[in-house]
Amino acid sequence: MNWEPLIETARKARSKAYAPYSRFKVGAALQTADGEIYAGCNVENRTFGLTVCAERVAMGTAVADGNSQITAVAVITDTDPPAPPCGLCRETLTEFGSPDLPILLVNTEGDRVEYRLSELLPHPFEFPPK
Ligand code: THU
Repeated sequence: MNWEPLIETARKARSKAYAPYSRFKVGAALQTADGEIYAGCNVENRTFGLTVCAERVAMGTAVADGNSQITAVAVITDTDPPAPPCGLCRETLTEFGSPDLPILLVNTEGDRVEYRLSELLPHPFEFPPK
């Protein structure tokens, strides 16, 4: 897996983050089955609860472009260690990625940690129930 294009895309998206309330900027990049890359940044809202995470912005963009099969995800923050996706984003990722989906967490210092989606969310909600 060549992560560099995803990391660069996530880094650029992070610079566009709209985070005037938390000041916590997040950038995400997804690769889809046909090799396309989609970017997302967090978009906050004055009502706080309407804030959308970088990962879900990127997923929405991919779906809107007709590519919903996600094969890799990179997320960048400035935390040490690099921050993982929130629970809501993990659950949303299970809609579009397999349990083996590789998720690379990066920080602005260049630290990297890689997980599979199933490690971050071992028991996702299934519908219809099995
Ligand atoms: N945030 C993300 O963009 N992704 C996550 O997975 C966790 C949190 C954003 C939402 C909010 O704008 C800020 O980080 C602080 O929670």
